[in-house]
Amino acid sequence: MVNMQKVAVIGCGFVGATSAFSLIQSGLFSEMVLIDANHEKAVGEAMDLSHGSAYSTPVKIYAGSYDDIVDAGLIVITAGANQKPNETRLDLVKKNVSIFKSIIPEIKERNCEGILLIVSNPVDILTYVTLKLSGFPANRVIGSGTVLDTARLKHVLGEHLQVDSRNIHAYVIGEHGDSELAVWSGAQVAGIHINHFCELRGHFQHQEAMNRLYQEVRDSAYHIIERKGATYYGVAVAVKRIAEAIVKNEHAVLPISSLMQGEFGLSDLCLSIPTVVGNKGVEMVVDIYLDNEEKQKLLESAHALKQVLESLDI
Ligand code: 2OP
Repeated sequence: MVNMQKVAVIGCGFVGATSAFSLIQSGLFSEMVLIDANHEKAVGEAMDLSHGSAYSTPVKIYAGSYDDIVDAGLIVITAGANQKPNETRLDLVKKNVSIFKSIIPEIKERNCEGILLIVSNPVDILTYVTLKLSGFPANRVIGSGTVLDTARLKHVLGEHLQVDSRNIHAYVIGEHGDSELAVWSGAQVAGIHINHFCELRGHFQHQEAMNRLYQEVRDSAYHIIERKGATYYGVAVAVKRIAEAIVKNEHAVLPISSLMQGEFGLSDLCLSIPTVVGNKGVEMVVDIYLDNEEKQKLLESAHALKQVLESLDI
């Protein structure tokens, strides 16, 4: 039996530790097991995280082994190297695929029935690798995908339009990486197309603004890594948001990365498309409207990912 109030976090680096922190603050879980190749690091994080319980919410937090994750409803994988300045996410592929080759068989061997949430980069490639190595059904293997990029887009649009970013409907889709695209054709605020809303706010240079904001979103991680060496708060909140959709069976629409099975003519790769997410994981990849240019960009993004997948030995 899986326990939906139990979460496992595999990998206790910056992304794992901040995700653990944000998952504890969410109040969704009563038990959390932390696993790291450096067990003492996991022990230290578990101690530090536990000390906040008295002022937040009671959660049993401990450093464990793979035997402890068997009944976890959600297994979050953040293990692996992260980008250094001037590295792309795809540059990490060899190192992180080999790390996943040691982690995923441990999960498979124990017949875990929880949902796997992959956060490590390149996330779309590692989500696919996880799917192949675990043999899990596709609905139970999710990548954090462009949930973070979509939050970044909403944020920059919120600043641009001086409107609450939560009231903006807009998605970044495709690869979580350099080939991602923003779906401007369907972007709106209060049911009003984004260009019209821009005009209501005194902005008329749509093409210039769309290019500038898209680039800002796409290159966010590079700008942050240049300055502070890593990104982790943004992704930790994205992890919490996905966990919430799963544990509360929200049927929330989130641009997570999952296996394409014919959608948009794509198959046998993982990338992000707005998807209905609930306690079974992926419920439905939404067949959103894309204009011709967006369709073309999505195909190019898929092509970039396929090329990487073809170079792998999995
Ligand atoms: C991010 O986008 C590096 O994928 C990480 O912040």
